[in-house]
Amino acid sequence: MNTPLCTTDGTALEESARRLLEPGPFGYVAGGAGSGATVRANRAAFDRWRIVPRMLRGAHVRDLGTTLFGERLPAPILLAPIGVQSIVHPDGELASARAAAACGLPFVVSTMSSYSLEQIAEASDGPRWFQLYWPDDPEVCLSLLDRARRAGCTTLVVTLDNWTFGWRTRDLDQDYSPAAQGIGTATAFSDPVFRSRLDRPPRDDLPAAIAQWKAMFTGVDREWQDLGFLRRNWPGPLVLKGILHPDDAVLAADAGVDAVVVSNHGGRQVDGAIAALDALPEVVAAVGERITVLFDSGVRTGADLVKALCLGADAVLVGRPYVYGLAHGGEAGVSRVLTNLLTEFDLTVTLSGGRQRSDLRPEVLKTNREVGFVSA
Ligand code: FNR
Repeated sequence: MNTPLCTTDGTALEESARRLLEPGPFGYVAGGAGSGATVRANRAAFDRWRIVPRMLRGAHVRDLGTTLFGERLPAPILLAPIGVQSIVHPDGELASARAAAACGLPFVVSTMSSYSLEQIAEASDGPRWFQLYWPDDPEVCLSLLDRARRAGCTTLVVTLDNWTFGWRTRDLDQDYSPAAQGIGTATAFSDPVFRSRLDRPPRDDLPAAIAQWKAMFTGVDREWQDLGFLRRNWPGPLVLKGILHPDDAVLAADAGVDAVVVSNHGGRQVDGAIAALDALPEVVAAVGERITVLFDSGVRTGADLVKALCLGADAVLVGRPYVYGLAHGGEAGVSRVLTNLLTEFDLTVTLSGGRQRSDLRPEVLKTNREVGFVSA
């Protein structure tokens, strides 16, 4: 596939990808729940904050690296778990994992990847985490955890907000569902315990395998006391993704998890949900001293990264932008998006007088209201 030039403007990537992709895959990636109110809110929240640069700080000398769970990263940035990436490029997660590794950034492997977690692990030697959609079968769950550990995933991210799919209007209107076609099932279909529950291998009866996947991976919500199962069976850092309420963050810390991801799944689950950035400060105030607080939803630019970090995120996950990069030519496209983001982040920090991660504090920001800015 050709590598059309990716724009350097992270906010323009979506429009550029729209021109490249078929309406089904584009709608699946770009779309949100319902009217799209939360997708828009995620962006609007970033726009309400302004950076106030400081001068004469010797900011040409800087190190924006950070340490997460004992792992040194060149920047406080990770690639968010995103499933079914082959719908935008045949190399899918293999390409994204390679591009992440080249930048030294952790790649979070989704349960719903188009390639199995072992294939993704083989594709690169970069840092990797595993994101779990919690199957309604403890033995399948244990098998996935075991495979993730053996595939070198250091950290487990349990996604709480997508136990059933949101009202995704673009997909409904286009009758487009990758999962219904068996895309995103590679890790489940290659799992020996999952396969042992089938009468015939997925290759011989795809509809039955898809039906079992759907029954096992969607439709069952959990309760806080269930987390003990994962805590007991995952020896490494445990992260809960999809936290928006500070009380849930406290429950997470009480349950012994190591981190939460403040996230509304990129606005794909609850139409009208609070913008993730608006939820961040309260979560940080509630648990920031006890556990690690990660963030995603709506990040498109280096300035967005600065704002989320100033508001207390320990690190930030980037979602759709790298998938748009993937659409623009596989690994090269993802690399370009990541390099642009890292460079813009670095420039924004340094031109604002920052030299290190700890310089990104709430005092660096002011709200539009504080500076008297009224949008048109
Ligand atoms: C996602 N997201 C997601 N999250 C997760 O935990 N497991 C998954 O398999 C997926 N799959 C997925 C597919 C697509 C196409 C998108 C756009 C998103 C959510 C993802 O991890 C992250 O929370 C959002 O992408 C963050 O929002 P932005 O930055 O994309 O706006």
